[in-house]
Amino acid sequence: MSKKVLVLPGDGIGPEITEQAVKVLKRLSDEGAIDIEMEEALVGGAAYDAEGSPLPESTMQLAREADAILLGAVGGPQYDDLPRDKRPEKGLLGLRSGLGLFANLRPAMLYPQLAHASSLKPEVVSGLDILIVRELTGGIYFGQPRGIRTLENGEREGFNTYVYSESEIKRIAHVAFQAAQKRNKKVTSIDKSNVLEVTELWKEVVTEVAKDYPDVTLEHMLVDNAAMQLVRWPKQFDVMLTGNMFGDILSDEASMLTGSIGMLPSASLNEENKGMYEPSHGSAPDIAGQDIANPLATILSAAMMLRYSLGAEDQAARIEQAVSKVLDQGLRTADIWTEGTQKVSCSAMGDAVVAA
Ligand code: NAI
Ligand code: MG
Repeated sequence: MSKKVLVLPGDGIGPEITEQAVKVLKRLSDEGAIDIEMEEALVGGAAYDAEGSPLPESTMQLAREADAILLGAVGGPQYDDLPRDKRPEKGLLGLRSGLGLFANLRPAMLYPQLAHASSLKPEVVSGLDILIVRELTGGIYFGQPRGIRTLENGEREGFNTYVYSESEIKRIAHVAFQAAQKRNKKVTSIDKSNVLEVTELWKEVVTEVAKDYPDVTLEHMLVDNAAMQLVRWPKQFDVMLTGNMFGDILSDEASMLTGSIGMLPSASLNEENKGMYEPSHGSAPDIAGQDIANPLATILSAAMMLRYSLGAEDQAARIEQAVSKVLDQGLRTADIWTEGTQKVSCSAMGDAVVAA
C-alpha cells in the first residue's frame, strides 16, 4: 500500500526548498523505487493568511493521517506583532506536541567537498559526524506557567518554567543510547547541573538509563563548555543528548561547522516512529523569493524520512549519494560557494540532485 506524505511548505524560503525535495521524491516514485502519495497543506504564516490560524484543523487532521510529514519552515517579520497563539511558530509547536514528536535528530556531518566552506580550519572539521538528539516536546519551551505579568509596583516581569519529568528524560535518553549503539558508541549528555535543578535530575536519570547500554560510553558536559568544545574540537563528540533549548542552540552552532545551516536536515519522531522532517534552519526571509536558498537540508530531510518513517533505507542512501555527487561536480548555492566552484540557484541545485 502506498504511504502518505504530507508536504507543508510554510513561509519564506519554505516553498522554494520543499519544491526541490518534492522533485527528488517524485523522481523516485516515478521510477517505482518508492510507493508514496504526496499531498500539500498550509501551515504557519501561509495558513494564518489564508485561514486565520497557523495550524488549521484540516492541516492537523492530514498530519494525523499521514505516515510522514515534510516541512519547509515557518515564520517571518510580518507576523512578529501577532498574538503568540496566532504566530507561525505556534503552528510548528502545535504539530510537534500534537503528534508527540519528542525526539529531534539533527545530524551535523561535514561533506569533505565543503571542508573550505566551514568557518573552522579544515583539519578541525574534516570527517566530522555528530548526531544531536534533542528533546522536543518538553523543557522551557512548553513548561507552565509562562507569560508576562505586571507586578504590584507596576513593573513588568517575563517568566517561563523549565521542567522535565523523569519519564520525559528517560525516553529521549533511550533514543540517544540506541542511536549511539549504531554509531561510535559515545553519548555526551548536556546539562547545567551546577545551577539548574531540572538538569541535575536530567543527569541522574541519564546515568541510570546508561546502565542498559554497557557498550556505550556516557559523558556529562555543562552546556557552556559544550558550546566551547564544539568549536574547539568537535570531533570528540558522537551523540550529543540535550534538552529542548540547549539542543536548539547547540545544533545551530554545530551547523556552521558543516559550512552552512542550509546543509542540516532533521527528523522529529514520536514513539511509533512517525516523523516530521524539516531542515534545521528557519524561513530565511532575507533571501526568500530569490531562488538562491540552499535546498540540500530539505532534500537530506526527505532522505531521513525515507530511512526512518518509510522503510526505504536504500533510496535514502541514493539521495545522500546524489547530494555528494552534485557537490563533487562543484555545484554550490550561494551559502556554500567558495572560490573555484560554480554558483547555482535553488532550483538548479534541485534539478542537479534529480539528475544525479
Ligand atoms: P534562519 O534559519 O531563517 O536564517 C538564519 C540565516 O541563515 C539567514 O541569514 C538566512 O538567510 C540563512 N539561511 C537559512 N537557511 C538557509 C538556506 N537554506 N540557504 C541559505 N541560507 C540560509 O533564522 P532566523 O533568521 O533567525 O529566522 C527567520 C524566521 O524563521 C523567523 O521568523 C523565525 O522565527 C523562523 N524560524 C523558523 C524555524 C522553523 O520553521 N523550523 C526555525 C528557526 C527560525
Ligand atoms: Mg532553532
